[in-house]
Amino acid sequence: MAKDPSNPGFTVGIVGAGTMGRGIAQIMAMGGMRVKLYDAQAGVAEEGRSFAERMILRAAEKGAITDVEAKSHIADLAVAGDLQEFADADLIVEAIVEDLEIKQKVFAALEAIVAPECILATNTSSLSVTAIAAAASSPERFAGYHFFNPVPLLRVVEVVEGLRTARWVTEALAKVARRAGHEPVRTKDTPGFLVNHAGRGLYTEGLRIVAEGVADFAGVDDLLREGGPGFRMGPFELMDVTGLDVSHVVMESIYHQFYEEPRFRPQPLTRQRMIGGVLGRKSGGGFYQYADGRKVEAKPAKLAVDIPDSVWIGDPGTTEGRALAAALAGAVEIETGSKPSASAICLFAPLGRDATSCAVAAGVEAERAFAVDALFGLDGRRALMTTPVSDPDLRDQVHALLAKDGHAVTVLHDSAGFVNQRVVATIVNIACDIAQARIAVPEDIDKAVRLGLAYPQGPLAMGDKWGARRILAVLDAMQAFYGDPRYRPSPWLRRRAMLGVSLLTAEG
Ligand SMILES: NC(=O)c1ccc[n+]([C@@H]2O[C@H](COP(=O)([O-])OP(=O)(O)OC[C@H]3O[C@@H](n4cnc5c(N)ncnc54)[C@H](O)[C@@H]3O)[C@@H](O)[C@H]2O)c1
Repeated sequence: MAKDPSNPGFTVGIVGAGTMGRGIAQIMAMGGMRVKLYDAQAGVAEEGRSFAERMILRAAEKGAITDVEAKSHIADLAVAGDLQEFADADLIVEAIVEDLEIKQKVFAALEAIVAPECILATNTSSLSVTAIAAAASSPERFAGYHFFNPVPLLRVVEVVEGLRTARWVTEALAKVARRAGHEPVRTKDTPGFLVNHAGRGLYTEGLRIVAEGVADFAGVDDLLREGGPGFRMGPFELMDVTGLDVSHVVMESIYHQFYEEPRFRPQPLTRQRMIGGVLGRKSGGGFYQYADGRKVEAKPAKLAVDIPDSVWIGDPGTTEGRALAAALAGAVEIETGSKPSASAICLFAPLGRDATSCAVAAGVEAERAFAVDALFGLDGRRALMTTPVSDPDLRDQVHALLAKDGHAVTVLHDSAGFVNQRVVATIVNIACDIAQARIAVPEDIDKAVRLGLAYPQGPLAMGDKWGARRILAVLDAMQAFYGDPRYRPSPWLRRRAMLGVSLLTAEG
């Protein structure tokens, strides 16, 4: 049993004083714990300590802590000249190079030095905690402790339970996290843990949409940001920030670790870019070009066409059809007959279906049929979807109609599920799989994603917000159209949608 983390003098030894180690040192010291920082490279531990000191002084300047508190926290930060100085540590957090053998060696050395009740934790993001612990003589005191970069700002940490981790270890780690001002989320040791697992959908479905020729990079990002779901950044903007040398490698690794699960299938286009050195901001440009550190925005073309005389809405009885009719009311004459007049443009607001299928099912010419995504409301950027034979003049007229009140419009090629329906349904579905596999409890899945990825809601709450039944309808239709098992609905989602209960409903 470890010392209670709320005890004065609780001592945390941090091995590796790079990007993560120094951030962890800062928050632990600010949480009132004693910290010792070690790095194999000469001078790096002292660099890390003085970095943490500067950050603590800055917090005092901003008034977040008092000068007295800052002094006390700084006094709690020490550099260890070698691992022997960790003999009195209550907890070790390892944040060294991401290499299984090197991590195992460092822990073997530590086990010979620290007390038997000292907790051993790794900040690995991609290795199996169970595999690192397999070489340890007491794997029950070993756990994952996965922080996010930048540590002081992303106030969540995954407490990862390896196959043999004891309960007292994860409980103590959760306490330490809270003391350091971070929210702990508990997860089983599975590829990507919680955040990197639940965060796959945004990338893999975004890439799939581009690879299918439905939209370009900016089209996907713009819709996810401005078209209702409310993401702060789209997948391509995010990949430019992280760099494909990291993002693509993580995509491939998680895909293979889950034995080629189709939900996580990467696309060749990121591999090609990575090989070509087009990594993102760090290589001077990626999916976007940057000038003075800012994204160069393409100017939208102005449409010089009239809006149509009348439109006919093919699904006036559905929630989405009604939303579309309400958004267009007053801007254009809406025909209410069971069949469109000869000159009317035909609009559909489907869930998970493409414009072609809507036109064929309604028996109207695909040349004058278009679909609009109404699942996320029509207050922001609007998605207009064409069929392969859409008349370009009519397309421009509908575009002008949708843009009439100053709305931005993104025109898509035909896609079962537009962009936002596909991406949001994929994200919700993956989170449902995580809950179904009992990797973590529903609240922790949502908390991890909200805090770790800054999504507008956790993925299960996101499903509830847009409607579990509607998300299920999107996935069923996509799977029927594409025949791809990546879209098969999670049992967790289907059952809760059938029962009409929240996706956050856990089982007793
Ligand atoms: N950077 C991130 O965004 C991030 C996020 C979450 C988790 N992680 C994980 O945290 C760990 C550290 O990542 P980082 O980004 O801080 O790396 P980093 O390269 O910035 O720092 C690693 C430090 O470890 C030191 N080191 C290497 N081998 C050592 C050894 N045998 N003994 C002692 N020190 C040693 C290096 O000198 C270096 O200073 C990795 O496991 C990584 O996967 C990184």
